[in-house]
Amino acid sequence: MQRDLPGPQDKADGKAKKHPVTERTEPSSAETPETPEPAPAERTPTSDHPSTNIEEPPQIVEAQPERPRALLGTSPGAYGKSKEVWYDPALPGNELPNPHISITGETGSGKTQATKSIITELQRYGVPALILDFKDDYSEASYAEAERLRVYDPGYETLPFNPLAPSADPRTGFVNPTYHIHQLVGIIKRIYRLGDQQAYRFREAAKRAYESATIPMRPFGPPPEQAYPPFEDVRIQLETDRGNESLLGRLSPIFDLGLFASEAEADFASVVASSTVVRLGQLPGDQVKNSVAEFFLMALYNYLIRQRQTHSLGRLLVLDEAWRLVESPFLEPLIREGRAFGLAVLVATQFPGDLPGAVSGSTATKLFFSQTQLDQIREIQRTVVGKTSGPDADHLAGVLKGLAPLACVLHSKQHLPFVRVRIKPYFERQA
Ligand SMILES: Nc1ncnc2c1ncn2[C@@H]1O[C@H](COP(=O)(O)OP(=O)(O)OP(=O)(O)O)[C@@H](O)[C@H]1O
Ligand SMILES: [Mg+2]
Repeated sequence: MQRDLPGPQDKADGKAKKHPVTERTEPSSAETPETPEPAPAERTPTSDHPSTNIEEPPQIVEAQPERPRALLGTSPGAYGKSKEVWYDPALPGNELPNPHISITGETGSGKTQATKSIITELQRYGVPALILDFKDDYSEASYAEAERLRVYDPGYETLPFNPLAPSADPRTGFVNPTYHIHQLVGIIKRIYRLGDQQAYRFREAAKRAYESATIPMRPFGPPPEQAYPPFEDVRIQLETDRGNESLLGRLSPIFDLGLFASEAEADFASVVASSTVVRLGQLPGDQVKNSVAEFFLMALYNYLIRQRQTHSLGRLLVLDEAWRLVESPFLEPLIREGRAFGLAVLVATQFPGDLPGAVSGSTATKLFFSQTQLDQIREIQRTVVGKTSGPDADHLAGVLKGLAPLACVLHSKQHLPFVRVRIKPYFERQA
């Protein structure tokens, strides 16, 4: 229970801790100078009752859970003194509408370094990250070992979920295999550019895979031990018809990998319980990389919606090279609904224009690294100052064009209209 605010004698008030071990919920003024602490109504001075002998109730100091936050870097302050800038989505009195982050900037500007820094900082609060790594930035041994990330390599391991397992509606507990097949076929059709006829063939094969495992196609309430056919059964069904040869040829890279060979649905919960990086960079071709990444988004979504709602930041999904995933039907739902399940989504990509409005509009923290393309600068101007002309917009354009590597413009409700930040890169944070 939230106790009353401490009196001036309370030592907790004056504690300056390097890493936030907070026993109270207000921000320390040293860390958040731009957010004046509102004077709480209940802070009644004891001098109101000078002559009474009524004993003050004992002050119970309840340790509040530390709120996850991340030191991003420094910004130039007054008198040449730099001040720390934090990503602090649950800052008391100035909470962000959501914990999501977007990071954009041209090649070499600092997106991955900033992302690694945020991952590291949040891990200190026990916030694990699930990282979809397209470029081997996070899977390389030195990084993964230093950050104690489990590297999940789909090139060698089967996936920790069954793509044919439909998600249960959290309200009714029912699953809808027909709807699930439509989603799955939609992903495969888009990524492999299947025609309508080929998509239809795939759909029919998936249906037969369910039917041969006696799974009804209409919505039903599965028992907890309900098993679903392995993805491999779709291939077996496709092979029963010679007319499917070209489709099988098209999909052979993903079937041949044996990613989905396992019947045992490995425990996705254990994958998301600790920090994991999914190594996609070594998979053959963009289509396989993107399919596996999209299946992970699907699996994460299906996992999350079965969890209890927490509303406090409990895990981080990292999508560096996020432009590859903007068409995933699960990206927006993860961003929109993820917050209720404690999920923060970090998307990093070169250009603000890579991100659909529904995604960029839902990231309350935005980091803009160096940008020189005019249309991209205009987009940032609209987001940050609300217009593309006038002194404020011109000033911002000048700042964006002149940003050195690892310097960015941070825009959030806690930093309006923006603050320039020199990111403390990951490579400077290691002991
Ligand atoms: N270990 C390191 N030591 C020193 N500088 C580094 C180190 N790693 C990266 N850098 C520098 O940090 C800057 C930012 O690199 P980063 O990888 O974060 O860029 P990026 O925005 O992710 O680029 P890309 O779009 O190509 O992925 C670059 O100038 C890079 O040279
Ligand atoms: Mg990068």
